[in-house]
Amino acid sequence: MMRVVVLALVASVAHCLPNLVDDLAAHGNTSQLADLITKAGLEATLKGPGPFTILAPLNSAFDAIPKDDLNALLADTNDLANTLKYHVLQGEIFSWDIQSGRIVHSLTGHAIRMYKQGNDIYFNNAKAVAVDLETDNGVIYLLDTVLDVPEGTIYGILENPDYKLSKFRSAVDKVRYDRLLNTTYSYGNYRYTLFAPSDDAFAKLDQSQLDRFFQNPTYLSDLVRYHLHRGTIHLKSLDRNGRVTSLYTGHDIGVDISNNDIRLNHVAHLTESDIEADNGVVHILDHVLIPSTLTGQIVG
Ligand SMILES: *[C@@H]1O[C@H](CO)[C@@H](O)[C@H](O)[C@H]1NC(C)=O
Ligand SMILES: *[C@@H]1O[C@H](CO)[C@@H](O)[C@H](O)[C@H]1NC(C)=O
Repeated sequence: MMRVVVLALVASVAHCLPNLVDDLAAHGNTSQLADLITKAGLEATLKGPGPFTILAPLNSAFDAIPKDDLNALLADTNDLANTLKYHVLQGEIFSWDIQSGRIVHSLTGHAIRMYKQGNDIYFNNAKAVAVDLETDNGVIYLLDTVLDVPEGTIYGILENPDYKLSKFRSAVDKVRYDRLLNTTYSYGNYRYTLFAPSDDAFAKLDQSQLDRFFQNPTYLSDLVRYHLHRGTIHLKSLDRNGRVTSLYTGHDIGVDISNNDIRLNHVAHLTESDIEADNGVVHILDHVLIPSTLTGQIVG
């Protein structure tokens, strides 16, 4: 009899918790997300049984999005719903369950990488500023950044003229890495990190140096593989004792990090970082990375 009473009490306490949407709406720093959930027509789903894990960007994270981009997002309900669903995971994931580097899938089916950096937990490029906030139908993490929905595959990013990566893309095509980089990640496939030299980076090489690469399939293949790492490395986890392995086996990329200045092989800066892809992540470089084995042939 006593046990029944205790159970009933526990059940009624659990029932007192608000649902995910009401909880977000009740807090001054997540009210914007709650409004957007309603606007996108996701309120009923996220008030439903779930359970869900919501990666909830703070109001300050939405405020950091350029006005034009935010307005464009608000004007397109499908796009908005897709962006919000990218921030929702099926099931309850608590921080103590998080194995660093684990890939989880959002309601949109896209992969999100969770990892620890020191005492902090990250989801892709966003830091969790509060974790394990319990509600009646799920758990909330507060994020300092709105996550970017992946823009297709790594190859798709190379094809996007906005990023000005046509020279590297033509190298990828020539050595037939296009298929590998255009494969959508699923269990059993690999994810990659591409350090992609921009067209401006290629323009820093002499025409004769470029010719020596583009006319020698072996050199070109070595060069392409040297810019690829198997596995996903976001900017915040680039600090790996100064080295990142590449697909050009045995040839690592050097990483110097000091005072927020990051340089690869002493020369290359990341002009854009953490561009999310379905099969990994892309960082854009202002210099081509030349493996030491090729410096004699190409630069000399
Ligand atoms: C969000 O607001 C709540 C109070 O509404 C406060 O307790 C919490 O510390 C705030 N969290 C952050 C990360 O600002
Ligand atoms: C990349 O994959 C997409 C989707 O499967 C396909 O439509 C596209 O033609 C592919 N591009 C190349 C260059 O293989």
